[in-house]
Amino acid sequence: MTEFIHSGDEKKKFVRQMFEDISPRYDFLNHFLSFGIDLYWRYRLVKQLKLAKGQTVLDVAAGTGDVGFAILKRYDVSVIGLDYAYNMTLLAREKALRRKVQNIAFVQGDGEALPFADDSFDAITISYGFRNIGHYEIALAEFRRVLKPGGRLAILEFSQPRSKLFGRLYRFYFKQILPRIAGLISQSEAYRYLPESVEEFPDRKTLLTMLAAAGFANAAFRDLTFGVTSIFSGIKSSR
Ligand SMILES: C[S@@+](CC[C@H](N)C(=O)[O-])C[C@H]1O[C@@H](n2cnc3c(N)ncnc32)[C@H](O)[C@@H]1O
Repeated sequence: MTEFIHSGDEKKKFVRQMFEDISPRYDFLNHFLSFGIDLYWRYRLVKQLKLAKGQTVLDVAAGTGDVGFAILKRYDVSVIGLDYAYNMTLLAREKALRRKVQNIAFVQGDGEALPFADDSFDAITISYGFRNIGHYEIALAEFRRVLKPGGRLAILEFSQPRSKLFGRLYRFYFKQILPRIAGLISQSEAYRYLPESVEEFPDRKTLLTMLAAAGFANAAFRDLTFGVTSIFSGIKSSR
């Protein structure tokens, strides 16, 4: 990991500042650098939630709000988007106003210390945010606490492609090309952190073990786009 990050607390501080700083260019770079496929990945996350009318969803690490907007396109539910970076929540609020989206609110907060009562939400989503969390176990315990029993956690995150050839091509793009293009447009440090953080992220099996240990039943994953990205999910068990 970037050489000056030695602990979960340092990672938290660095990540928060990074997203405060890159927020104005975040949406553009997201769609540009992924060739727009990120929209499809979020769509797949939302599709597998299978929400019922009137339910409440917490989108942790909501960023500029795209998961929440995609949820409301598909389901008649309410969404709270929470993000650590205040500037991201401001942009998300502006987007909601511009698009006249209702039933959504954005709050600034820490995924490791959620400002909500126990058993509040029917589902929790976190898209490309879990990798950025300073302390995974603390966050998973918080997600479980605020989920209703039987509620679903769904994590969308980058993985390592399974195919050797595709994996090589992908890593070349991710490590050599992407940081250079992004560096021209935004802070290059942030886009150096991106491939490093994906490489350091626990592999599929480890993440499933972490979910089970945190009290999530039926922990499972589904790969998308040759395993570039995966959706991990689990149900809050009653223990
Ligand atoms: C890569 S962005 C993803 C944003 C959005 N979910 C998406 O799919 O585009 C990661 C987000 O995680 C947020 N984040 C990082 N650590 C967090 C934490 N401890 N609590 C809440 N949000 C956090 C960052 O501020 C950033 O907005």
